[in-house]
Amino acid sequence: MDVTSTDMNISAGDRYTFQKRHGIIGKSTEIREVVDTIMQVAPTDITVLVTGESGTGKEIIARAIHDASRRAARKFIPVNCGAIPEGILESELFGHEKGAFTGAVESRKGYFELADGGTIFLDEIGDTPISTQVKLLRVLENGEFMRVGSSEPRRVNVRIIAATNKNLEEEVRAKQFRQDLFFRLRSVNIRIPPLRDRRGDIPLLVETFLNAVGEAGKDIMITDEAMNLMMRHSWPGNVRELRNVIESIAVLERGNVVDENVIGKYLQAMEPQVDDRFLPVPLGKSSEQAERELIFHLLVELKTGIESLHGLVEELRHQQRPLSLPPREEQPSEPSISLEDRTLQEMEEALIAHTLKRFHGNRRLAAEALDISERTLYRKIKDYGL
Ligand SMILES: Nc1ncnc2c1ncn2[C@@H]1O[C@H](COP(=O)(O)OP(=O)(O)OP(=O)(O)O)[C@@H](O)[C@H]1O
Ligand SMILES: [Mg+2]
Repeated sequence: MDVTSTDMNISAGDRYTFQKRHGIIGKSTEIREVVDTIMQVAPTDITVLVTGESGTGKEIIARAIHDASRRAARKFIPVNCGAIPEGILESELFGHEKGAFTGAVESRKGYFELADGGTIFLDEIGDTPISTQVKLLRVLENGEFMRVGSSEPRRVNVRIIAATNKNLEEEVRAKQFRQDLFFRLRSVNIRIPPLRDRRGDIPLLVETFLNAVGEAGKDIMITDEAMNLMMRHSWPGNVRELRNVIESIAVLERGNVVDENVIGKYLQAMEPQVDDRFLPVPLGKSSEQAERELIFHLLVELKTGIESLHGLVEELRHQQRPLSLPPREEQPSEPSISLEDRTLQEMEEALIAHTLKRFHGNRRLAAEALDISERTLYRKIKDYGL
């Protein structure tokens, strides 16, 4: 079923309430069709494939489907199939038995078992290695899988939502993606059009993002010329790019009036378009602009870091148990935490280990809690040998 239009009559009021509840902004026909489809499929267990360019909102759509389903009270587990190294993706998804491979000192549940009763969100499904694809097909067909190192089939009741910004038809043609899995996944295919094909959504997005920034955004006045410029821009990074531009302006600009010169500066700053999700400073900015943004990002990171540390120390105080930090060479081992004697790296290592434990090894959730990208978390896990 390739859903592009709906035969169910959804009232404007119901759609508005739904969008508000799930934070989906947009009034264009294209977004309305997407929302109507979500409202139709959410109550079912049908597999959904969400496609669209980067930054079009695939993840918020996936979350909305889960939150509006009868599984809402159960877990929604996002898995970035593109960010997890090929060698460990399978054990992350399906779990493993003790001794299945070097380092598998205990048996462990995978994401499918953790998501039992809920929804698993297979993000960047187009990047899943072929060897794992066949196993995904099996789960899709009969809910069955095996932990790595086990031959005993297990069953779970999990709803699957997948997303990709790749053209899966092309991937199938290039033999990078299994055709049977592709057919099975796209039972319902929700296509989110790029922002440049639904420019009518731009003013509402701008207004909402400005209001969301808080006081800083409320006083800002965008001139008609500035809005026209945004309406003409091609937005290669889609809604994510628009949100970045608006938030940067709200935080960094000193004046209240934003004219086309100001907007122009920020739009230029975002070009050439690169995937800047993992870079602190998008390329191509003036050095003053880059410096201000870098300082802003560092301050935000510092604040988050301090908050996490506070939380950790508080938690430990309540539990009245020592934090197990790697012992320093000159001080053999010590029973309790002494912050002054610790380096920032040791604290970071302990915090990461602690957070991973808290989320049962789910790196995606741990990265979210630490407010760093999954890629950064992987690097740190490797660096610290965790
Ligand atoms: N219709 C929308 N309403 C409100 N926010 C949106 C909308 N679309 C996207 N966003 C915002 O844009 C950003 C990117 O959205 P999201 O992460 O869902 O995109 P994506 O399609 O998964 O991108 P990628 O392919 O890069 O992972 C988020 O901050 C999200 O909240
Ligand atoms: Mg995404």
